[in-house]
Amino acid sequence: MFENIDIGLIKKELRDQSKNYKQNFINIEQFIKNEIQEILNLKKNNKPIIPEISFNDINQKKSKLLEDIKKRGCVIIRDVFEDTYISNLNNQLEKYIDENKYYEDQRKKADLDKYFSDLKSGKPQIYGLYWSKAQIEIRHSEQMAKVQRWLNNLWIYENEEYKVFDPNKELSYADRVRRREPGDDTLGLSPHCDAGSVERWTDKNYQKIYQEIFADNFEKYDPFNAKFRDRIIEFESPAVAHVFRTFQGWTALTEQGPNDGTLQLIPIAKGMAYVLTRALQNDVPESELCGSKPGRALSVNKDYHSLLLKGLISIPKMKPGDTIWWHPDVIHAVEDKHSGKNFSNVVYVGSTPYCKKNLDYTIKQSKKFLEGKSPPDFAAEDYEINYKGRVKLKDLSLLAKKQLALEDWN
Ligand SMILES: [Fe+2]
Repeated sequence: MFENIDIGLIKKELRDQSKNYKQNFINIEQFIKNEIQEILNLKKNNKPIIPEISFNDINQKKSKLLEDIKKRGCVIIRDVFEDTYISNLNNQLEKYIDENKYYEDQRKKADLDKYFSDLKSGKPQIYGLYWSKAQIEIRHSEQMAKVQRWLNNLWIYENEEYKVFDPNKELSYADRVRRREPGDDTLGLSPHCDAGSVERWTDKNYQKIYQEIFADNFEKYDPFNAKFRDRIIEFESPAVAHVFRTFQGWTALTEQGPNDGTLQLIPIAKGMAYVLTRALQNDVPESELCGSKPGRALSVNKDYHSLLLKGLISIPKMKPGDTIWWHPDVIHAVEDKHSGKNFSNVVYVGSTPYCKKNLDYTIKQSKKFLEGKSPPDFAAEDYEINYKGRVKLKDLSLLAKKQLALEDWN
């Protein structure tokens, strides 16, 4: 594991790819400074920063929008579901939690996942539930499939060597629920990235993905080229995703905006280039990577990344049925304090296109689904085994079965 990895040696190899790693970093830093300035100007003038589109418009050609998504690495898709439909599902979810006495269960299983234990703000109010009717209805809906296909098609999914994924078939990654109480000030998440921390420097395939960055060709680096993204090998750790997501995302169950304990993003698709090359600079101890540790989320912090952190913004107001999506390299956080008056609830649903990596995981996941257990990537809390109202195989649509690898896609 990590103890056996010679970080100093890896840094040397990565520096050697550049003619001048200090100058390379300065160039990247200048690019980031410009991006931050743009974000701050938009913010000052109350202009939208995160690209937005309405669900009904997603199949219209909008090249400016696509350009913006590729630059910012995120997008809001509004009105994927109707407000009243989602509010109803939110109520059903609450009932599912109450009727099955989730809180009692949780107290018994106090040893929650340790994944976020190093992020200063502590643990967010996230529920280890995966198979409720509300989640399944959202996750496996026709609307969600349409959104995911559209998002997948923003990527370059084919190259001269192989086809990375099929953008028009999707698999489902069962994830949890966030239900954040008004007034809560203990449950934020400091800025981080999922999909690998130390791996982003040490993994051979990540090194290929980021090669242009290290080799002075930052301008040529395309974060939306999927080549090798399906071949990353993550360090084994609870709650590290073992799938390739074209976008992470969630669907709002309740209305929530800035200061309601909601999501924050640094909307720069190429922001990872700064994090990667920052760690190679001489002021960082040779055996360290700016605070990132294996099996944890990638850390973005004041000690090393204060420039990037200036670009951290809260996402705008979301209504029930709106969705937000962000690239797996986009740094994100959850606000420390929920100063609003209502629960800020979301169902996490990302986009996991059909590829071998995702299929391998989905097959393992489907076994857990059939037993009502927690999916393989999450702590084996297995709350839902005997829950009343849990979704079973007989309740699934054909689409849901395909997305859970319980039916062939062909
Ligand atoms: Fe995250």
